[in-house]
Amino acid sequence: MNKNEAIGIFDSGIGGVTVLREILKVLPNENYVYYSDSRNNPYGDKSNEQINELCEHIVKIFIKQKCKAIVIACNTASAKSAQYLRNRYRDMSFIAIEPAYKMVHDYAYNEPTLVMATKGTIESEKFNFLYQKYDNHKTILLPCVGLADIIEEGNEDKIKAYLKEHLEQHRGKVKNVVLGCTHYPLIQEEIQEVLGQVTFFNGAPYLAQHLKEVLEEKDLVNNQGKEGIIQFIDSSNDEQKKKRFFELIKE
Ligand code: DGL
Repeated sequence: MNKNEAIGIFDSGIGGVTVLREILKVLPNENYVYYSDSRNNPYGDKSNEQINELCEHIVKIFIKQKCKAIVIACNTASAKSAQYLRNRYRDMSFIAIEPAYKMVHDYAYNEPTLVMATKGTIESEKFNFLYQKYDNHKTILLPCVGLADIIEEGNEDKIKAYLKEHLEQHRGKVKNVVLGCTHYPLIQEEIQEVLGQVTFFNGAPYLAQHLKEVLEEKDLVNNQGKEGIIQFIDSSNDEQKKKRFFELIKE
């Protein structure tokens, strides 16, 4: 592994851009290869075996590109496949994300909380372990089936209709919202509009900090002293996605 090599980062689509944005705040000089697996999204309702297979395919691409670390910028893939990947690729550092439920415990334990995530994340063993450990007994778990899909599509009307249908009943009743899917920070304002004043919890800043620590520990931080390069790959070669991805990075 060498300092100038890129960091691989992937999601089922462009949602992981919300993770990359946080990473760029703490590691602006790294080179990145972002892989958007839009051909296979959504990941949220796939089996563990299917997700393992999809993730492994992407990991092999990153290894070919000689990536020095891999960020799993997808809560579903992190919950289902991080351990599988770590067991199979022991020399690679995998940095995974998880719904920021521990942060609710640390900063706002007593308040009613809504956890929004994919069905896959909410049903996963990994999330259940986290939930049992930090449960404040005032938490609603909401599997948002299909939401990542319509965010990926970028259709504002569909997003608003979805949120109205699924969130309005919680308006005024929840104080904390865990954004447990990397696509959801892209619609934070729309969520706020439906729910009213709430505090959002997002795992991405913690992942970014952890990635920095892992690189420092391995002496792999890039010291090139200038902004790195970001390469974008989409598994369905969708040019529109590429355009949106680079617009969202700057937001
Ligand atoms: N962005 C992903 C996550 O964080 C998954 C979305 C999907 O493909 O279902 O869970």
